[in-house]
Amino acid sequence: MNTPKLISTPKPDIHCYETANALIESAAHLIAERIKQHIADHGSCRLALAGGNTPRPIYQRLAREDLAKTIEWSCVHFFWGDERCVPEDDSSSNYNMAYTTLLSHVPVVADNVHRIPAQQGAGAAASRYAKTLGDEPLDIVLLGMGNDGHVASLFPYTPNLDTNERVISTISPVPPVERVSISLREINAAAEVYLLVSGPDKAKRLAEVLQQLESSKAVLPAARVLPQSKQLHWLCDSAATQKM
Ligand code: 6PG
Repeated sequence: MNTPKLISTPKPDIHCYETANALIESAAHLIAERIKQHIADHGSCRLALAGGNTPRPIYQRLAREDLAKTIEWSCVHFFWGDERCVPEDDSSSNYNMAYTTLLSHVPVVADNVHRIPAQQGAGAAASRYAKTLGDEPLDIVLLGMGNDGHVASLFPYTPNLDTNERVISTISPVPPVERVSISLREINAAAEVYLLVSGPDKAKRLAEVLQQLESSKAVLPAARVLPQSKQLHWLCDSAATQKM
């Protein structure tokens, strides 16, 4: 008789901070430390940035002098987890958000800024970005979580969640609808992943995601973020974790 296989359920590493400000402060410090560690270990850091509102003040905090001066920015390669198919100066462009909050304030090397060329259309941009990413996994992936449990532009119950591609074109239920996103495969190959979740609007979905994680019945994209490295860290505020 075959011995049943023991399936272990992952224990999520959840950091819950009392206030949104404490989350911003701690996340910025932690991300700065991890960037420096990758640079110390192998001379560079491949960092994928998230869009949305949650990371915005974290990028601003990272750009403030006390933290910014501790990082060798010329060794940081910037990538994006997803992008909306809009011009790069559009207010809904994830590149634009990262540029105005962080990249324009620190001494980045232009050649190290690997933005998703989404203005070319989702299909073309996805295949070009897969080439830009190359074969090396990302060192740090930052993600937000949408109210529906999406991460990057990977939306629940959409066809490409199980793809083997590294980058996909996708459709969002809310505008701008045309999107490009790194895939779950790419996220889960990263050395470390941080999920940034803030505010009471996220509380119900976050509780559901964590329940799915612990019961090994992961359906929502956020519950399917399980890096092989096991380095998945949820950084939340208490408003987001109130229903856990
Ligand atoms: C995007 C994102 C997306 C975002 C979540 C959470 O381009 O919209 O990358 O996945 O992170 O929707 O967004 P908030 O932080 O604004 O809630």
